[in-house]
Amino acid sequence: MKLLAIETSCDETAVTVLEATGNFPDATYRVLSSELYSQIDIHRDFGGVFPSVAKREHVKIITPLLEKVLSDAGCMQKREADVNAPAAALDFLHEREAPLADALTHFYEQYELADVDAIGVTVGPGLEPALWVGINTARSLSRLYGVPVIPVNHMEGHVLGSLFEDGNTLTHPAFPVLALLISGGHTELIHMPTWGTYEKVGQTRDDAIGEAFDKVARLMGLPYPGGPEVSRLAAVARAKTLPAVAPLPRPMLDSGDLDFSFSGIKTAVRYRIEGQTLSHDEQAALAREFEDAVTEVVAKKVADAATRFNSRSLIVGGGVAANQQIVAALHTLTTQHPTLCACATPPAGLATDNSVMIALAAHAHTEHAVAPAALDTIMARNRYSISDISENRG
Ligand code: KG4
Ligand code: ZN
Repeated sequence: MKLLAIETSCDETAVTVLEATGNFPDATYRVLSSELYSQIDIHRDFGGVFPSVAKREHVKIITPLLEKVLSDAGCMQKREADVNAPAAALDFLHEREAPLADALTHFYEQYELADVDAIGVTVGPGLEPALWVGINTARSLSRLYGVPVIPVNHMEGHVLGSLFEDGNTLTHPAFPVLALLISGGHTELIHMPTWGTYEKVGQTRDDAIGEAFDKVARLMGLPYPGGPEVSRLAAVARAKTLPAVAPLPRPMLDSGDLDFSFSGIKTAVRYRIEGQTLSHDEQAALAREFEDAVTEVVAKKVADAATRFNSRSLIVGGGVAANQQIVAALHTLTTQHPTLCACATPPAGLATDNSVMIALAAHAHTEHAVAPAALDTIMARNRYSISDISENRG
């Protein structure tokens, strides 16, 4: 089957056509076409993502991306005869989102779809106005072309994306799996006894880890998104073997539970910076200490969780999984931990948000495809927890 997948939960607009042969999780996959448009340059000026700005950009770019991806995948043909879009199909959209409705009407009048069996779309978690752009696009295409829609949880996408190491099959991890999801909006530990069952067993009580990186970067005068910038600076301190700064706190390291807290480390960094003039080397040494502190906390919580749940493999997903320091520490941990025997991390390009992972998650839920007549049940769920997948669909 061929799946069209759409991701608009935050500041990346992404569209993929994935061909799947066989059933999840044993299928063979082929990414026929995939494009991603990052809004980072726009959000950089604001120092973060504003939902209304993100929404506006998604609306602008989503139809051009669909055209590109569907035509590259060979799933779209230019119409030979003039047609008019069925009048009632996009009524729901015209009232609220006229520019998107117009763009999709125009798209329909120009192109026929070929061979698309289902449309997967991220319904949450994420920024609600941004999520609605993807959902409304999927619903419109569904009504116009009669293709069902598969609602996708973004975090499940991150889990599956990290298992797509060879770009053709999903790595089959030894269960129980422990998934560590670390991004700009989430820091979660998930116990997975089998495929498709997710139990959230730990999470941040305040800032997400990526958010802490972004805020520390801002304090240091570095651009958004701050994770890669802080990490680059920390690498400078390691390369130059700069002297250590006084240690930063490791919040909740020994709290006995599996929760995290990162706002305290960020505040401690603020006290070291505000009102001081740090040299470049001093700032680099502070970045290194920050990265070491969060890495230590993350590794300890993963070790504790794996011990508690007898986890045999670790899956690391989310944008912060691009951090080499954290990933290296987790790989080392798997070689030393009594139960863990493997660690899967996202392949290049699939750590930060993308739509290949959304296509994989859609394939995992083909039996939950929603027919065009029932599309009203698909809503944006900004706080959609990965734990709710098993409950709602089990
Ligand atoms: O998963 P993602 O693309 O979007 C969300 O769903 O949040 O993650 C983005 C986050 C940002 O906070 C960014 O600073 C962080 O991932 N990030 C990193 C690195 N690359 C991206 N954090 C630390 N080190 C990195 N190399
Ligand atoms: Zn994400």
